[in-house]
Amino acid sequence: MDKFRGIRSFDAFPKTDSQHTVRSRRGGASTLFLVFIILFMAYVEMGDWIDGQINQTFSVDNAHEDVLPINIDIVVAMPCSFIHTNILDVTNDRTLATDYLTFEGRTFVVPEAYLENTANRVIKTPEFDDIMRESLVAEFRQGFDDPNSGAPACHIFGTIPVTKVQGDFHITAKGYGYRDFMARIPVDGLNFSHVINEFSFGDFYPYLDNPLDFTAKVSENHVTSYRYFMPVVPTTYHRLGIEIDTYQYSLTEQEKHFEAYDSFASTPGIHFKYDFEALKLTIDDDRIPFFTFIVRLVTILGGLIICFNWLYRGLDKLLVLAFGKRFASRGSEKPKSLLNDE
Ligand SMILES: *[C@@H]1O[C@H](CO)[C@@H](O)[C@H](O)[C@H]1NC(C)=O
Repeated sequence: MDKFRGIRSFDAFPKTDSQHTVRSRRGGASTLFLVFIILFMAYVEMGDWIDGQINQTFSVDNAHEDVLPINIDIVVAMPCSFIHTNILDVTNDRTLATDYLTFEGRTFVVPEAYLENTANRVIKTPEFDDIMRESLVAEFRQGFDDPNSGAPACHIFGTIPVTKVQGDFHITAKGYGYRDFMARIPVDGLNFSHVINEFSFGDFYPYLDNPLDFTAKVSENHVTSYRYFMPVVPTTYHRLGIEIDTYQYSLTEQEKHFEAYDSFASTPGIHFKYDFEALKLTIDDDRIPFFTFIVRLVTILGGLIICFNWLYRGLDKLLVLAFGKRFASRGSEKPKSLLNDE
């Protein structure tokens, strides 16, 4: 007696006998293809939505802050004790940059990846993604002033607050350029070769590249004058509620090498001449609201499925027309059963 006979024959979900189903390899492949296309489209659309549309607008810069920091990290090929730094702005305010900077004796090396003696190269504006990824505010480490170590080069770094007007940060040698009664460093001791690790305005984002970052200049002349002219444009980035204020600058360089020192014609030194544009650049990305985006995505994908369906059916019809019924249904014949049931 089989107690389970009743249960065995009971099936809540009646199934088509497997003999009667037709396996279509073509159908399977095209479904897979469709799924792939759908995923791909969804991915592309999603990316587009996240990136948004980038708008750049100029406006009059009416920011009220009138002091902003300049971040400097530079190595000059002269002992610190030779060096004189200063900031002079159009209001004739002299900022004793020395008060804010750290001076450390070290050796002079131009790191391999740095651009050496390239002037006026093309400068590119950082991409939105770079800004978002690399805007980590930082501060210079605390340094120990050790200017008298006798090391051949001097590492100068720090953040100097300046008035937001045209100005000139310069590095000269003691006794040159000013009518100060400082002991003049002998001309033989001068070397204005330098390596710039950082030169930026505003909040210090060490990972954002500025035109002068990672550049170097090496001169074989003792009396050399380097001038960097930098128009600075305040630039604000907006994305997803985050706002990042930066200052971008472009760069024009001038360098002069002299055989001898002449107090009128040739003041050796490194000058960073900056000026703030009255314009402000705002870069923001707009995106449609999330709900609208979802509706759009569903519409697109739905349309895709319908089109694909039509295409598939059309293709089938075409095959039938062209090669007859046998060809079109090839590959979808009933598989021969191995088991001989009954
Ligand atoms: C300055 O220093 C650099 C690096 O040590 C050197 O290559 C260059 O010849 C020096 N220039 C002068 C004028 O001594």
